[in-house]
Amino acid sequence: MSSHTVGVDFGTTNSSIARCMGRSGAVELARFRQFGEITESWRSLLYLEHIREHGKIRLASWSGPEGIERYLSREAPGRLVQSLKSFLSSRTLQSTEIFGRRLKIEDLIARILGDLREQAERQFGVPITSAVAGRPVRFVGAETDADDLYAEARLRAAFQLAGFETVEFVPEPVAAAHYYESTLERDELILIGDFGGGTSDFSLIRVGPTIRRRGRTSEDLLGNAGIGIAGDAFDARIVRHLVSPHLGAGTTMRSVDKILPVPGWVYAKLERWHHLSLLKAKDTMDLLRSVKGQALEPAKIETLIQLVNEDLGYRLHQAVQKTKSQLSIAAVAPFRFSDGAIEINAVAQRSCFESWIAEELAAIEGCVDSLLGNANVDSAAVNMVFLTGGTSFVPAVRRIFERRFGADRIRAGSEFTSVARGLALMAIDRSAASCESSTFHRG
Ligand SMILES: Nc1ncnc2c1ncn2[C@@H]1O[C@H](COP(=O)(O)OP(=O)(O)OP(=O)(O)O)[C@@H](O)[C@H]1O
Ligand SMILES: [Mg+2]
Repeated sequence: MSSHTVGVDFGTTNSSIARCMGRSGAVELARFRQFGEITESWRSLLYLEHIREHGKIRLASWSGPEGIERYLSREAPGRLVQSLKSFLSSRTLQSTEIFGRRLKIEDLIARILGDLREQAERQFGVPITSAVAGRPVRFVGAETDADDLYAEARLRAAFQLAGFETVEFVPEPVAAAHYYESTLERDELILIGDFGGGTSDFSLIRVGPTIRRRGRTSEDLLGNAGIGIAGDAFDARIVRHLVSPHLGAGTTMRSVDKILPVPGWVYAKLERWHHLSLLKAKDTMDLLRSVKGQALEPAKIETLIQLVNEDLGYRLHQAVQKTKSQLSIAAVAPFRFSDGAIEINAVAQRSCFESWIAEELAAIEGCVDSLLGNANVDSAAVNMVFLTGGTSFVPAVRRIFERRFGADRIRAGSEFTSVARGLALMAIDRSAASCESSTFHRG
C-alpha cells in the first residue's frame, strides 16, 4: 500500500506523478531534467524512431523531455505524436501506422506512462504498481456516456500495459479540490475550475478540515461538469487565423474545368495537435501532392507538405503556445514560426485572440452555468472559486469567474501540479480508509 500507490495525472499536454509521505499530507512530486532545468511536468508527447541495435532494426520511443530532446536533435526521420489523450473516445481511430507498424493509441500512451512510472520509481526508490489516476469529467470527443466509458477503459488498458497492476480513476477537478483543501483552515463550498490542454473540468464540492475529520460523504460533492474545450481548442484558433493562410487555407485549385477551394479538412486536422501528429500517412501525403499539382498557389501547399512531412508539429505547438502565453500578460504578442523554408511572422492582439475564441468561452461559461443550475446552487452560496490548469492563465477565462463571483472570491495556484498533488492525497486517504475499514464515498 501507501508508498507504492502514487497519484498520476496523465494530461493532454503535461503529466505529473506524485506520492504522499504518510498522513502528514506532505506530497513529493517526481522531478525531471529538461534543457538543464528541473521541472515537475512531463510533456505528454512521444517521439518514435527506427534505430539499429545489435544488427537489428527496432522501433524505439522517448517521451517527455527525452522525447523533445531526441526529436530536436534527430538525424533520421522520426514521428512525433502529441495530445494523445484526445483520441481515447474515438472508435474510428484505434491505431495508427508508424514506420509500417500498426500501433494502438493505448500502446502509444502506455509508452509515455511507462517512462513516467520508471522515472518515479528511480526517484522514489520503490516499485510502483498501483495508481490513483485522474480522468476528465468528460473525455474529449465523448458524445455519449458509452463513449466516455470506452475512453476510460482504453486509458485503463494503457496504464496496465505500462506496468500499473491496479488503477483507480477519479475526476481531475475532484483531485484538484483535495489539493486546495490541504491549504484550508476552514470549511468552504468551492467551485473548482481546471483548464488544461484538452478539457475544462469543474467540481462543486464542500471541503475543509471538519469534513476531512468527520469523513467525506457523497453529499459533499454537489456535482461535476466538463467539456472538451481548453488550451488545444484555443491553439486551433491561432493556427486558423495566423498559420493556415500561409499554408494555402482559403486558396483555390483547378480541377478539370472548374476552380475549387483546396480541401478544408486538411486544415481542420492541422488545427488539432492530435490530428496533425497523424497526418503524415501515405494516402494523405499523396493527396497533398496531387492538390499541389492543381493548386493556384502551389508554394503554399508545398510549405504545408514540408510541415507535415518534417514533423514540425512540436515546433508549431511551441510557437503557438509562446504567443498565447505572452497574450496572457500583454495586449500584443509577436508570432514567429521559422523552420527551413517556412517563415511566418505575425502580430497577435489579445482583443483579436479573444474574439477568435469567443465561441469556446461561451461554451465554457455554459458548462459552469449548467453545473450550478443542476446542483441548484446560487453563485452567492459559493465561498471560493479555485482556478487551476495551464489554460486558467488566459485572462478571458478568468473573467468568466470574476464576473460571476467577484475577484475577491477567486483563488489560483499550482496550475500544473494541483491535480497530481490531490491524487497523491487521495491515494493516501484510500489506503488509510482501507486500513481503518472506514468507508470513503467516491464522488
Ligand atoms: N501562460 C499561459 N497562458 C495561456 N495558456 C497557457 C499558459 N501556460 C500554459 N498554457 C496552456 O495550458 C495548457 C496545458 O495545461 P495543463 O498542463 O494544465 O493541461 P493538461 O493537464 O495537460 O491537460 P488536460 O487536463 O486537459 O488533460 C496548454 O494548452 C498550454 O498551451
Ligand atoms: Mg490537466
